[in-house]
Amino acid sequence: MTANELNHKKVYVHTLFVRVFHWVNALGITLMIMSGWRIYNASPLFDFRFPSGITLGGWLGGALQWHFAAMWLLVVNFLIYVIVGFASGHFRKRFTPVSPSSVLGDMTRALNGRLPHSTITYNAVQKAAYIGVLLAIVLTIVSGAVVWKPVQLQEMGILLGGYEGARLVHFLGMTAICAFIVLHLTLVALVPSTLIPMIVGWARNSKDELEASHEL
Ligand code: HEM
Repeated sequence: MTANELNHKKVYVHTLFVRVFHWVNALGITLMIMSGWRIYNASPLFDFRFPSGITLGGWLGGALQWHFAAMWLLVVNFLIYVIVGFASGHFRKRFTPVSPSSVLGDMTRALNGRLPHSTITYNAVQKAAYIGVLLAIVLTIVSGAVVWKPVQLQEMGILLGGYEGARLVHFLGMTAICAFIVLHLTLVALVPSTLIPMIVGWARNSKDELEASHEL
C-alpha cells in the first residue's frame, strides 16, 4: 500500500452504540437544561433568572412535563451506555489510562500548541473531561431524584445535605455540564474533522493515526 493510499484509508472511530448514546444524550441534556432553567425561574436559588427565551415549557407546569419526559430518555440512555460501556471494554479502551500527570502534561502541550490531534484516540485532557462530565451527569441525576422524591429518598438526601443541599448540588451539576458543553463545542469547532466520525462512524486518517489505531 502506498503512503498516499494509507493517508486516505477509512478508519472505524465510533461504534453505532456510542453514536446513538451520544446524540440521544445531547438531545436529552439540552431538553433537561432548558426546561430546568424554566423550573428554576419559578423559585430561583440565587439572585438571577434565566432569560425566558432560552427556556423550555412556557410556564412551570409545562416545563415540569418536559423535564420529566426528557428525564426518562436521558436516564434510560445513560444506564444502557454505562452498562454496555463497562461490559464491552469501551470505557477501559477509550478513557484509560489517565492520571493527573498525563492530564497536566497534555494540557501543557496543548497550551504550547504541541499536542497533535488524533481522531482515533482521546488525549488525557479529553479523557478527564469525558469522565468528569459523565460523573457530573450521575451527580445531577441522583440529586434530581432526591429533589423529586425527598421523602422516599431521604437517606440519600442526608448525604447531599437534605432537600436544600440536593437542590444546590443539582444546580452545581447543571453548571458543570454547561461548562463542559461550552468547552466541548469550542473544541469541536476548532477541530471540525472530529464531528463526521461521531455522525457516520468513519474517518479518513493519516498513516500516523492508523498506527495509533492498532492500540485500540
Ligand atoms: C450538538 C452538541 C454536541 C456536539 C456537536 C458534540 C460532538 C462530539 C464529538 C465530535 C465527539 C468526538 C470527539 C473526538 O473524537 O475527538 C464527542 C464525544 C463525546 N461527547 Fe459530545 N457533542 C455534543 C454534545 C455533547 C453533550 C451535551 C455531552 C454531554 C453532556 C457530550 C458528551 C460527549 C462524550 C462523553 C463524548 C465521548 C463519547 C465516548 O467516546 O464514549 N457531547 N462529542
